[in-house]
Amino acid sequence: MRRWWWWSSYCVGICSTSAVFMFLVLVSECSPPEDPIKCGSVSPNKYANCTITNSYGAFPDRSICRVAEVIYPTTEAEVMLAVAAATRGLRKMKVGTRFSHSIPKLACPEGEEGVVISTKYLNRTVKVDVEGMSISVEGGATLRQIIEDAATAGLALPHTPYWWGLTIGGLLSTGAHGSSLWGKGSSVHDYVVAVKMVSPGGSEDGYAKLRTILPDDQNHLNAAKVSLGVLGVITQVTLKLQPMFKRSITYLKRDDKDLGDEVLRFGKHYEFGDMTWYPSHRKVVYRIDTRVPSNTSGNGVYDFIPFRPTPSIGLALIRASEEEQESRRDAAAKCSSGNLITSTLSLLAYGLTNNGITFLKYPVIGYNNRLQSSGSCLDSLNDLRITTCPWDPSIKGEFFHQTAISIELTMVKSFIEDVQRLAELEPMAFCGLELYNGILMRYVRASTAYLGKQQDGVDFDFTYYRSRDPMSPRLFEDVIEEVEQMAVFKYGGIPHWGKNRNVAFHQVFHKYRDREKFLKIMKEYDPHGLFSNEWTDQILGVEGTVIIYKDGCALEGLCICSQHNHCAPSKGYFCRAGRIYKDARVCSYLQSPNHS
Ligand SMILES: Cc1cc2nc3c(=O)[nH]c(=O)nc-3n(C[C@H](O)[C@H](O)[C@H](O)COP(=O)(O)OP(=O)(O)OC[C@H]3O[C@@H](n4cnc5c(N)ncnc54)[C@H](O)[C@@H]3O)c2cc1C
Ligand SMILES: *[C@@H]1O[C@H](CO)[C@@H](O)[C@H](O)[C@H]1NC(C)=O
Ligand SMILES: *[C@@H]1O[C@H](CO)[C@@H](O)[C@H](O)[C@H]1NC(C)=O
Ligand SMILES: *[C@@H]1O[C@H](CO)[C@@H](O)[C@H](O)[C@H]1NC(C)=O
Repeated sequence: MRRWWWWSSYCVGICSTSAVFMFLVLVSECSPPEDPIKCGSVSPNKYANCTITNSYGAFPDRSICRVAEVIYPTTEAEVMLAVAAATRGLRKMKVGTRFSHSIPKLACPEGEEGVVISTKYLNRTVKVDVEGMSISVEGGATLRQIIEDAATAGLALPHTPYWWGLTIGGLLSTGAHGSSLWGKGSSVHDYVVAVKMVSPGGSEDGYAKLRTILPDDQNHLNAAKVSLGVLGVITQVTLKLQPMFKRSITYLKRDDKDLGDEVLRFGKHYEFGDMTWYPSHRKVVYRIDTRVPSNTSGNGVYDFIPFRPTPSIGLALIRASEEEQESRRDAAAKCSSGNLITSTLSLLAYGLTNNGITFLKYPVIGYNNRLQSSGSCLDSLNDLRITTCPWDPSIKGEFFHQTAISIELTMVKSFIEDVQRLAELEPMAFCGLELYNGILMRYVRASTAYLGKQQDGVDFDFTYYRSRDPMSPRLFEDVIEEVEQMAVFKYGGIPHWGKNRNVAFHQVFHKYRDREKFLKIMKEYDPHGLFSNEWTDQILGVEGTVIIYKDGCALEGLCICSQHNHCAPSKGYFCRAGRIYKDARVCSYLQSPNHS
């Protein structure tokens, strides 16, 4: 507390972004993220009149999801009761998780009379099978817990997302991954051996059916491994593990001239490699990350700085400064702030330490479980929100769009070169991404899951400013929109199910070879579509379209502009063709004496 006051008055005095940022890194006290579920009426056994949102507090269309009732089962039997009750009443339902990290409106039961079945208390580790090298957990177990419990038994889940706060049910449902081109690749669902789920049943089953899907039933497993939550409630998952191993990590910054050629070579060479790309500064940071013999000495830890508890006041200052830069259209200021952030991160080794305390030198060597994923901002010490996760909606901190698209390996080079050409035409256009640490590039492999990746590829993650005002355009939004449309349409990229804006999902179902097999199983498990909502119907091609036309729709990625009013003509943003990809339609700022 005292330290916080000291720093904040210091900050008001000096208040350069770097002071704020250093200060962000120094303090470590945290309150747990806000609950995405809020109920207006709570009686001992009933949570009624509720809303559910995501961890950012806003869906892509900014709609509010109202739910008649939320149920918190603690056992599989209670899940059966909840599903049976809703099925009998033909009520729409969805699974809700402790933190609700997906951006799209996946967790919202359709209509306002629906039921959310929360996995908050379905988070036990059921069994660690040391001989068979596997772990079985309940559907709401978090990634952090799975990694820790496996490690306690000397085992490792080799590939995971980089963020602890996801639940196994949620991360499988959206196809979440880490980075690897080796073996089965980096998607957690490709390490699934068995799934138990509760789906709606007929009267003969008592309206709920427990399904145990084992390895001998690959057809059902391929549907259940990545299911968008539309098949039922995943109550238990068994994952294949490996003996614990060590990794060696070195970050290496280089210019990005030959990135298009390097990408393939790099991915083949290093089992866990990834890249962070800063196109405006023409730099790439290669994460050279590979398995080493387990007797190699080293006790390294990764506690990624942007996932650490961060002082809310600093976050508010950084946000205010970005809003100010946006309103002044000060691209140069964005570039210098961006540079400051990325060089500070680099100086601090992104949160790597050689021994859990300090960073001395590369390589950082340590056990997989201490390097693969992090999220100390989840830790709960107080409720005052002195520090939070940076995107916590209860403070005035980060608010962003996220575009995450996987591009087939053979096309990655041309995509990168197109982005480089755009960066040449508009050198400052990508600085806005650098404020969120650039473009994260990770390897993914083709999956047997029907809704998994279709091809080996590279997943590109772009994080960028989102205004609190949906009608307010962004600096260089045309360039990022062009990249988004190139990735999705020119290169046929596949959007991450748990991220992205609507545009990225336009006609996405055509990109899945086995969509029909998935839909068949969906019909079998949930004939009345009780676990489906408008959004899943749209992305699965069952009914409707993700594109929403209205004034300003392109600013929020709800549409591709075809008329000026889809942009912000009164603010000088008009619908124009792309610079490199001529089929793109983007909101461009046109100097005009009359704009306000
Ligand atoms: C800080 C941060 C870092 C991230 N890092 C990565 C990363 O490194 N790699 C990556 O791929 N992704 C990453 N993501 C995205 C993330 O993978 C997805 O948002 C993830 O799927 C969300 O998991 P969740 O547990 O929050 O599920 P939710 O978002 O709550 O749920 C997702 C969907 O799954 C359904 N669902 C959840 N549990 C069950 C269940 N038990 N049974 C049936 N359906 C269920 C829900 O109903 C919903 O439809 C990150 C997100 C954040 C916020
Ligand atoms: C539900 O919430 C709304 C708005 O908060 C309120 O007006 C209404 O009375 C509530 N209904 C019940 C049944 O609690
Ligand atoms: C399960 O979740 C509850 C509620 O969030 C929490 O108190 C408990 O510690 C969790 N259990 C495990 C094993 O993480
Ligand atoms: C690790 O083990 C291997 C084989 O068991 C041995 O050859 C090597 O010298 C050991 N290395 C270290 C650093 O102890």
